[in-house]
Amino acid sequence: MPNAVVRSTEDRAPLNVALLGCGVVGSQVYRLLTEQSADLKARAGAPLRVVGLAVRDPQRARQVAVEAELLTTDGLALVSRPDVDIVIELIGGIEPARTLLLAALKSGKSVITANKTLIAADGTELHRAAREAGADLYYEAAVAGAIPLLRPLRESLAGDEVRRVLGIVNGTTNFILDRMDSSGADFSAALAEAQALGYAEADPTADVAGFDAAAKAAILASIAFHSEVTADDVYREGILSVTAADIASARTLGCVVKLLAICERCDGGISARVHPAMIPRDHPLAAVREAYNAVFVEAEAAGRLMFYGAGAGGQPTASAVLGDTVAVARNLLAGLRGPDASTYAGLPLVPIGDARTSYYVQLDVADRPGVLAPIADAFAQHGVSIKAVRQEGRGDDANLIIMTHTTREAALAKTVAMLGAMEAVRNVDSVMRVAALEDE
Ligand code: NDP
Ligand code: HSE
Repeated sequence: MPNAVVRSTEDRAPLNVALLGCGVVGSQVYRLLTEQSADLKARAGAPLRVVGLAVRDPQRARQVAVEAELLTTDGLALVSRPDVDIVIELIGGIEPARTLLLAALKSGKSVITANKTLIAADGTELHRAAREAGADLYYEAAVAGAIPLLRPLRESLAGDEVRRVLGIVNGTTNFILDRMDSSGADFSAALAEAQALGYAEADPTADVAGFDAAAKAAILASIAFHSEVTADDVYREGILSVTAADIASARTLGCVVKLLAICERCDGGISARVHPAMIPRDHPLAAVREAYNAVFVEAEAAGRLMFYGAGAGGQPTASAVLGDTVAVARNLLAGLRGPDASTYAGLPLVPIGDARTSYYVQLDVADRPGVLAPIADAFAQHGVSIKAVRQEGRGDDANLIIMTHTTREAALAKTVAMLGAMEAVRNVDSVMRVAALEDE
């Protein structure tokens, strides 16, 4: 039997790490880098040593004990230190994160970030800087927190053709919609509960208006379809207009309402969008409760894959950051770079009007002879095929629920405009997209 080859990491010089940010995620990354240092050293191939930690306010109480001499408010000086090998950015937002990361990359340091806002806005420039400097740029934690998703898309599925990525990528809105479904709470009560439990920020706009999910959708679409996609390319609707009545209607139809990020190949390019949608209760995404995330990937050869787990939180997100840190450390020691951004396909984004899905339309109509025919005709005139109709009487009025087959968004919008102008239609109460597992 051959002797086992034991590689010693004792003689390796440490890889020096600059940590930018020591908040919810940064504090957990620092804790794990410190507490798991022996295992991380064995896995990475060299000790990982934090040589500085940039924060806004060094006096602030932290969730972890940090040696005072490590703290600095001068992030630029820290990332410019010649002895720093790896920069981990956990500040968030565009500036100063962008300036700090470009400075780090341009001086040859490899970068790990959880910053979806920055990657979805300036990923192309950051990747270029990394490429020119021969450095790595990793950001697994930027989408769906702890869930390994970007690496499987970029590496495990590199030999396949991804058709669609569809998922719940924002935990705060999933918590709110789940509460509205399970307790009948309205949006404000569910939001207040999410804030009290620490899921939603005091200013919840980024989550409830869909900005956070749109940034994640842009990153997913870029990697899945080998094309440049920014957050501005993603059609976005948040959950502010989802009412308790919408949730109740979905329930009667055997559906739940979820905020979905949908990125798919379509005629002529990519459709990338974030919006609330009804999904049948037997859809795997319907079982995603509370603040969890889950993403469905449909690929030509692999078929359907589902990724599920904690999409946020200090420790879960730190897990993804540390996975990237070990990968980057291994690359540095081997003198390699990880996979570069792949944008060779250059697919264009198609306008939302060309997106295809089925719809739920709820109308308040006059309940008298001859009303249904012109309503059905409005759908027919725009080439929208009706799948099911249900009517409930309400005195002189009726509540009319119409489900459509898959159709173009623009055709449905024109239909709804025509319905809204009809004398017999008292009100268009609700229009919502319906996402099924398969396009019909
Ligand atoms: P926090 O707000 O909790 O922490 C931000 C940190 O950045 C703080 O330590 C703050 O310092 C520091 N900071 C702010 N401005 C500066 C500055 N100008 N110079 C130096 N340091 C600065 O954010 P999170 O930890 O929640 O998020 C960090 C990143 O991780 C973001 O990109 C976020 O999108 C991403 N992310 C977060 C998740 C989560 O669950 N929280 C999940 C997935 C990704 P100080 O402490 O002194 O104020
Ligand atoms: N605010 C995000 C969410 C977590 O609720 O999922 C950070 O991406």
